[in-house]
Amino acid sequence: MSTHFFADVPTTEPDVILGLLDAFRSDTSPQKVNLGIGLYQDSSGKIPVLQSIQRAASQWIELEENKSYLSIDGVATYNAATQELLFGEDSPVVADRRVTTIQSVGGSGGLRLGAELIHRFLPEASIYISDPSWENHRCLFESAGVKVETYPYYDPETSGLKKTDMLDALCKMPMGSAVLLHACCHNPTGVDLDLETWREVVGICAERQLLPFVDFAYQGFAVGNQEDAAPIRMFAERGLTFLISNSYSKSFSMYRERCGALSVVTGSAKEAAAVSSQVKRIVRSIYSSPPSYGAQLISIVLNTPELYVLWEQELAEMRERIRSMRRLLASKLSVTLSGRDFSFILKQQGMFSYSGLSSQQVRLLRDKYNIYALESGRICVAAINERNVDYISEAMAGVLGSKGL
Ligand code: LMR
Repeated sequence: MSTHFFADVPTTEPDVILGLLDAFRSDTSPQKVNLGIGLYQDSSGKIPVLQSIQRAASQWIELEENKSYLSIDGVATYNAATQELLFGEDSPVVADRRVTTIQSVGGSGGLRLGAELIHRFLPEASIYISDPSWENHRCLFESAGVKVETYPYYDPETSGLKKTDMLDALCKMPMGSAVLLHACCHNPTGVDLDLETWREVVGICAERQLLPFVDFAYQGFAVGNQEDAAPIRMFAERGLTFLISNSYSKSFSMYRERCGALSVVTGSAKEAAAVSSQVKRIVRSIYSSPPSYGAQLISIVLNTPELYVLWEQELAEMRERIRSMRRLLASKLSVTLSGRDFSFILKQQGMFSYSGLSSQQVRLLRDKYNIYALESGRICVAAINERNVDYISEAMAGVLGSKGL
């Protein structure tokens, strides 16, 4: 018998987003640009370490007493501050202890914990994700044993939302289904619901007894921390049971520290405590307890008024810079490809633009110009700056204008 137990393991494809990051890193061309992954870069092309985080780090050096394990649910002050950021000050769901929040390994970790919870306690429920959705959503839920379906979302004809189709689909979902919604800065399209549509969605979820699962990876990148949380607060006011996975990767530029949280809003403090005990059991069975460093720094910023103010300024700066890059890109493309309408780029929110590039055009961008984008045509506007915008827009215009692609 062979002892090469894995001899027949087939090689699988690299990850669509992180695999592209590896390919970008090994590209030696000086002109390369990575529009593939959702990483914010400042005007000089650097992924910033925020000042608020640097100051928190110097405090933490003095404060850290030991390297013992954290509790299974993580840093308590981080979880409490996360609840305030999500639900606002004086939120009844928080005051009544109807919500439980557990630190997670990034937003993906929060999604996975929620997926495991659904799989264990609502085994019949499918989760509906938008068409299209973040590349990893399907795999993440299916890996936890949750069946994945889709609902209509993006309309390539208008570069906007298929609102009627989306609402119709929500109305037709079997009662008890889970539905994954992006609170803001929809990944990959950048197309968000307006408040009126959110109200309709909340109403349908209540009537059809759906379980909303809100993916909140970009709080602060659309309008601001409070404004972007409006859908969460609508669900809470309506008294629904729902889940939220939030991430601090983008808003604190803390990608590699993997800081997120899963919050579950329930009907009572007793229910929340029971859910919390179960999520802790899930964590213990996967990674035991979370890492400390990133969550401690974020907790310091969120709980120190002057650092909080500084952080909100830094967040606003990132948000505004992305907006100005949208304007610049759209205007350059409109000049080069006059007669084509690029105003959709200005209407989209957050880091991404669904550019309309076909997969062939994306491949050509990479092969000819060393510009990396996702095959779906998603580009990360947050990687554009005044020095690379001409190169990017000329390359994009070149491939968009190529006949037969
Ligand atoms: C993205 O969509 O590019 C980011 O959320 C990074 C990731 O993990 O996919």
